[in-house]
Amino acid sequence: LANNLALTPPMGWNDWNAYGCNVSETLVKQTADKIVSSGLAAAGYQYVNIDDCWMQHSRDSAGNLQPDFGKFPDGISGTAAYVHSKGLKLGIYEDAGTATCAGYPGSLGHEAQDARTFAAWGVDYLKYDNCNNNGSSTTEQYIARYSAMRDALAATGRPIVYSICEWGVNAPWTWAAPVGNLWRTTGDIQANYNSMLSIFHQNVGLASYAGPGQWNDPDMLEVGNGMSATEDRAHFSLWAQMAAPLLAGNNLVNASSTTLSILGNRAVIAVDQDSAGKQGRLVSSSGGLDVLAKPLANGDVSVVLFNENASTSTISTTVSAIGKSGASSYGLNDLWAGTTSSTTGTISASVPGHGVVMYRVSGGTTGGGTDTTVAIRGTGS
Ligand code: GLA
Repeated sequence: LANNLALTPPMGWNDWNAYGCNVSETLVKQTADKIVSSGLAAAGYQYVNIDDCWMQHSRDSAGNLQPDFGKFPDGISGTAAYVHSKGLKLGIYEDAGTATCAGYPGSLGHEAQDARTFAAWGVDYLKYDNCNNNGSSTTEQYIARYSAMRDALAATGRPIVYSICEWGVNAPWTWAAPVGNLWRTTGDIQANYNSMLSIFHQNVGLASYAGPGQWNDPDMLEVGNGMSATEDRAHFSLWAQMAAPLLAGNNLVNASSTTLSILGNRAVIAVDQDSAGKQGRLVSSSGGLDVLAKPLANGDVSVVLFNENASTSTISTTVSAIGKSGASSYGLNDLWAGTTSSTTGTISASVPGHGVVMYRVSGGTTGGGTDTTVAIRGTGS
């Protein structure tokens, strides 16, 4: 969406994955504090996003949405003011149908009124779902509904990132670029390796649809929610390599130092946030051993070697396969080990099961090679 927002993938936090409907002002404020004190804000995490279940079950007599004041004693506006005072931005959740996925009032027929409410409260990001869409599930109908809220948000004059959820819509990557800043490409992620892997497979083939202001959204992060540290590093690396939104979905207040260091890896974040806005593509995939390449704005190429299998394997590729040529030697910066080395052509590493090795490759010139999308087990593309 050409609203000059989300020129790099949105970064922040959302309560849903760790808390479901147990969202509250206290949680949001404590999380905002932690985003700042942990250094995650300085690393780029900006949006503190409230998901479903923040409101009352009915509108007021004037038809306005009402916060659940038991959960949010200062309302959304008071919560937003606190988040803004920390230098962060506030996100909220609504739905294009008659009710949200958890059964709270939807915005259908109230788009302009609700957009004005959000803007007045100081909301900076809207995740707009499509549950309870009242059987209106033709492509034209849901595009019209999502466009109505896009136009309502624009009419408020407040910059509000517009995130499209996938329930009840088909292949949003084919229609959503003029409508939203990002669109979910899959069902809901869960905090286990197979869910993460399945979502990766579904999202990785969609690179041609992504770019500044328009991102594929393979759902929020599950880092810190139960996978192993090796799996969490793989998850975070793959999402960064796919230029996905980096929305932490864990309990940040009590997060371990390992979890915070994964979410806070600035070299990996820089790959996600690269200004060229290219989603990485598979350049090879064989027997569960994947190589992804993402061309970066300064001419470097980010490479992820991902081992989908349970046991350690060597994964190898070449500088030409990732689109580089013209030098006698190339630099390899290992983004998790923090070490540097060089190669004359081969890029190869021993990769633990369910893990990654991630390099930033420099030198020579970049072009060709990386625009080849390899099909992966028949999914996603
Ligand atoms: C859907 C979305 C989730 C979450 C819930 C809230 O399932 O995909 O991310 O927002 O609704 O009810």
